[in-house]
Amino acid sequence: MSTRKFRFGVVAAQAGSGEDWLNKARRIESLGFDTMVMPDTLQYSLAPFPALAAAAAATRTLRIGTYVLANDYRHPVMVAKEAATLDFISGGRLELGIGAGRPNSATDNTMLGLPFDSGSIRVDRLAEALAILKPLLAGQTVDFSGTHYTVSKAAIAPAPVQNPVPILIAAGQPRLLKLAAREADIITLAIQPEETEAEVAERIDVIRQTAGDRFAQINININLMAVGGQVPRHIQMSRGAEAAQQLAQSDAIPVLKGTPDQMCDRLAWLREKFAINYVVVGDELEAPGIDSAAGSRRARSSGYGTSISSCEADMTTAHISTTHPAPTTARTRLRINGVDRSLAIDVRVTLLDALREYLHLTGTKKGCDHGECGACTVLVDGRRINACLTLAVMHAGQAITTIEGLAQGDQLHPMQEAFIQQDAFQCGYCTPGQIISAVALLNEGHTGSADEIREWMSGNICRCGAYPNIVEAIQYVAADATR
Ligand code: FES
Ligand code: FES
Repeated sequence: MSTRKFRFGVVAAQAGSGEDWLNKARRIESLGFDTMVMPDTLQYSLAPFPALAAAAAATRTLRIGTYVLANDYRHPVMVAKEAATLDFISGGRLELGIGAGRPNSATDNTMLGLPFDSGSIRVDRLAEALAILKPLLAGQTVDFSGTHYTVSKAAIAPAPVQNPVPILIAAGQPRLLKLAAREADIITLAIQPEETEAEVAERIDVIRQTAGDRFAQINININLMAVGGQVPRHIQMSRGAEAAQQLAQSDAIPVLKGTPDQMCDRLAWLREKFAINYVVVGDELEAPGIDSAAGSRRARSSGYGTSISSCEADMTTAHISTTHPAPTTARTRLRINGVDRSLAIDVRVTLLDALREYLHLTGTKKGCDHGECGACTVLVDGRRINACLTLAVMHAGQAITTIEGLAQGDQLHPMQEAFIQQDAFQCGYCTPGQIISAVALLNEGHTGSADEIREWMSGNICRCGAYPNIVEAIQYVAADATR
């Protein structure tokens, strides 16, 4: 039986502001997660080193990590320098994740004028980078001459607190899996939903055989694609809402579904079957998923099999029970439609519920409560977000605009007028979200064509099918704005 201890992490990439980012880190720590990790992209995430430094400064025990650095455009000596500094200022909390490049990171390479080489070349480059990076982090002076890097008497300061700094490598194909098995302390398996148990077991075997005695010390990690019926928005966008829902209900390996007990059973099975002991979830999903699974387990005292007891013990004594606080109430100042509103509110209340249940601003609608329909769209500092997917306390001090805030007295917003003129609704339930989204769309400049409008309004569902008139209303206002 596997005795690997369970670990839980959250992948965070973006924030509405610096304060929002710090609050996110604090919240992840307060929920009892072990790690907060960040991807490395030019466009879709904050820059990992400064953002993780800020997250570390806002927390005390939360481990921080890159998930994963794009090796192609980062020189290993500079990575060692940045990583050592981050480990130093975080008091030894860094887990350094690095990879050979996701298939869709070719765009980033292009922006930097770098080729996106074949997989084998990128893996070779990563192997050379690790041969430089690891001894540098261990305090050695490095001379290296390879195909991709030449380094002469390189040395860095400060020394990291940890020795060694844990290295995470994201790997899918055998060549990279073998490199990871030789070099990594944590291996992230990039598992697609279509992958069978046999295929995943095959990959674990590659790691096991290559790592030899080290295998027992390696953490095997996966990034969950759905938890408790919820799917991160980026997966919904890439797969479509229907396919994402099917995924959430499927038996795919990177999916946890059912009751908290069933989810915990599934975690125990993943560990038993594939040695997977470390799971991360997108920051949209962390609260209802893992946390509630752990909480439910903690409330029970007996009646589980050996592996489940082990799962329970890890979750409670090693992970959750020592850090998970009782629900707390916080006084939060929200700036809604230009007016400051002060609320004493449970920190777990969503922005949507705060608006509707506490402030009685019921114009913002609750459709799915899962980030799928867009009925709850509001503007936060001018950006549209789903209010059901975010917590009210995370938006202290930010300017929140709801449908009630668009009109100036009796004067409707031009988008409201256009929806009426173009008959762009039937039952009207989705309409506040549609209008708020449309207002943001105008500012984003995505009104070049009907197709573009449809694409950028695709997060707002209308069960009455008023889409043609919604597009016409938006085009009408867009045209008016250019007159
Ligand atoms: S209620 Fe928020 S997206 Fe549906
Ligand atoms: S008008 Fe009825 S849901 Fe859109």
